[in-house]
Formats: sequence, structure tokens, C-alpha cells
Amino acid sequence: MSMTLRRLSRAATAGLVAAAALTAAAHSAEAADTLGSAAAGQGRYFGTAVAASHLGEADYTATLDREFSSVTPENEMKWDATEPSRATFTFTSADRIVDHAQSKGMDVRGHTLVWHSQLPSWVGSLGASDLSTAMKDHINGLMGHYKGEIHSWDVVNEAFQDGGSGARRSSPFQDKLGDGFIEEAFRTARAADPAAKLCYNDYNTDGVNAKSNAVYNMVKDFKSRGVPIDCVGFQSHFNSNSPVPSDYRQNLQRFADLGVDVQITELDIEGSGSAQAADYTKVVEACLAVDRCTGMTVWGVTDKYSWRSSGTPLLFDGNYQEKPAYGAVLAALGGSGDPGDPGDPGDPGDGTASCTATYTRTADWDSGYNGQVTITAGDEPISAWTVTVTLPAQQSVSSLWNGTPTWSGNVMTVKPSWNGTLAAGASTGFGFTAAKNGSDAAPTVGTCTAS
Ligand code: XIL
Repeated sequence: MSMTLRRLSRAATAGLVAAAALTAAAHSAEAADTLGSAAAGQGRYFGTAVAASHLGEADYTATLDREFSSVTPENEMKWDATEPSRATFTFTSADRIVDHAQSKGMDVRGHTLVWHSQLPSWVGSLGASDLSTAMKDHINGLMGHYKGEIHSWDVVNEAFQDGGSGARRSSPFQDKLGDGFIEEAFRTARAADPAAKLCYNDYNTDGVNAKSNAVYNMVKDFKSRGVPIDCVGFQSHFNSNSPVPSDYRQNLQRFADLGVDVQITELDIEGSGSAQAADYTKVVEACLAVDRCTGMTVWGVTDKYSWRSSGTPLLFDGNYQEKPAYGAVLAALGGSGDPGDPGDPGDPGDGTASCTATYTRTADWDSGYNGQVTITAGDEPISAWTVTVTLPAQQSVSSLWNGTPTWSGNVMTVKPSWNGTLAAGASTGFGFTAAKNGSDAAPTVGTCTAS
């Protein structure tokens, strides 16, 4: 089957699955007593790294499906897994994760396109111009296969050296192509899937230090020259040698102030008990304090499968029991473990009906796309919601499900069809199919109002 056909068939299937997932989510109407639903109440996603090999384990999948609203394939989208020999792409394991996530209405983060590690040896043996071609082919191969299905891509991972120099790390890309490989990767990625957020991702950049300063300067330069970059990922692997920095929030904020989103992409904190719980609280509070911190991902579901399993760094123990850190994260997100601070928008019972609306493109093809708007009730139950969606002028909507639209020019005002009643923190949503008519721009979703 040709690449084009395979791409189209993934996109078309995704549209159908997304519509089914919306209905499933709407019927479950759960309260904000899971990480994903509590984070949604704060307008954020809460994700985890997932390994395809564990999806057959019932407890693993039950915990994943119950708690998380986003997944990152832990290894399955890396270069060695997807293009082990040149131009031969294998997507079986990554597809398993993406299909599972879509069937549960979860977002997918793509990890990662260009990285010096888990890189097959054939890449390192290429000469400069061939390497540049191979890098672009790899980006186009991955992003083409998943076009319209990935929320954010880690386009380049770990390109800077540790330590004080702020220099780029030696890698086949850096050594043969120079600093410019990073912007070349981002420009290629933007063209390959214009709907995906494009992130630079790294570690030991969580606080203000020489390495994060170097990344900061690169992002600032990209923004000033129009190199496409949308987000910066902070891996956030913490332990006693590398604790949660005291200036974490300040560091996230200075990046956000450059005009990019920030995401916590691979969070794990070695330790146990209340000390570990307190560290997790600091991280969640830092993200919530930064408007452009759009979500958090922990690097695994259970301690027993963590890449640092001896450090027990995750939220569920080896038997999938909630650790103190789990309760702390849920509470910090304003979930039902929280005793409640008056005025905290995530806490139960301040008496005002409210909702939030978030938009994702769930499928994409040459002439059109599917969009999904997820509506989440605030800290009170609601009986109705209203959301406006403004489409780019050329676009037109051919169908809409799980909502009732009225039109004024290119603005559609959507109210519930059958799905107006939501418990506090519960989510529903509507989906639609739009014709691009020459414009690939995203619609703008206005404020959600509830009664
Ligand atoms: C790790 C995985 O968790 C391991 O299973 C694998 O053996 C090595 O890679 N930074 C990253 C991640 O960006 O891709 C790494 O994941 C952890 C460090």
C-alpha cells in the first residue's frame, strides 16, 4: 500500500473513533476524582508514558484508561523503533498505542523525531547532505503517518550539553549539519503536519541554569526569526541529585513569556511517602501557576515498569495502588481528594455553574478535517452549556454531532443536543467535520458558559 493511502486510512479511521469516544466519554459523566478529569477542570491534560507491551495487562490498562487523558509512547515512536533501516518504516507498536488512546478519547504526544539516542547506526554513517535528507524523510514519514492525530510532537530532543557551557551536544546531526539542524527539523515538521504543536524537549532545563538559558536563547531566536516552534517540554526527571528546582515556576514562566506553550513531559520523582508527595505537589502547583503550562505527563503508570524502577518515582506502586504522591497530585489539581480552599476554581462547591472548552483536531485530510470540542463542567453540576466556535472565513462545516449549532456568518454557537447535564468536573463534547476550502487554519473556540 502506498504511503498516501496509508495516511488517509489512518486519518479516516481516527475520525470515526473520535466520534465514538466522545459518546463514550459523555455517558460516563465521572466526577473529578481521577487525574485526567481533575486536570481537565483546570484546562490541562494529565498524561503518562505508555509501553505497547503492557497494554495486554488488565490492571495496567484499567489504571491507564481510568486516570489519564493523554499518552506518550515510551519508546515506540523513536527512530530505532520506526525506521530501523533506511526508508523502511514500522509502525505496528506505535499504532497499537495510538489506536488504544483514540478509542478512549485520549490525546497522543509524539516522542520523538530527532534525537542522538536510540538512533540506528545507519544514520550515523551518512555524509552531511544524505543525513539532512534522511532526517527530513524520517520526520515526513512519522508525521505523515500520524497526520492530524498527534497533539504535540517532540521534534528535537536533548540537543544541548549538560554543564555550564550552554553548547550543543555532539551528535551525528550536530557534528555534520551544525546548529541549523534544529531549525531545519522544525520547518520540516511544520509542513508535515500543520495541526501538531511542535516542541523542543530536554532535561536539566527545569530550573534557571546555563543549559536552560541556552535553550531559552534558541527559542527566543526562533520566535524572532519566525522559525516554527509552539512549545517547550521540560522532562522533569527528579531525584536527590537533581531535586525539583526552587525556581521551577519562574523558569516555566520565562519560556511562556517568549510566546510558547510549556509542558511537563516526562515527570518522575524518586522517593516515597510524604516527601515524594510534597515534591509532586510543587510540580503541579508550578504548572497550574503558569497559564501557558498546558499539561503534565508522568513517565509511566506504575513503579514496576519505570525506567528508574528502583527509585519508585511514579504515582502508582507495583500493585497499582495509589501512593501518597497520587493523592497529593489529585488534591493539587483540585480533585476530590482536596479539602477545598475557598476561591480555588478546582475545589468543590463555590456555587457558580461554569465550564471550560478545549479544541483538538482529531483527523485531517487534504480537503478537510474533524474537530472535537471537549466541554468540562467546573466545580458545580451544570444543566446546559454554550460554546462559540469561529471558523476561518473559507471553511464550512458539513456535519456536527453531539451538539446543536446555530450560525451567524462564520461563527457557530453550539448548545447541547442530549448532553447538557454534567456532574461537577465531568466532560462531554461535540465533534464536527469541516471543509478547508483552501484554509488549513484552526478555528477559535470562545468561552464556555454554563447554567
Ligand atoms: C527512556 C525509556 O523510558 C526507556 O524505556 C528506554 O530504555 C530509554 O529511554 N529522556 C527521554 C526519554 O526523552 O525518551 C527516555 O525514555 C528517558 C529520558
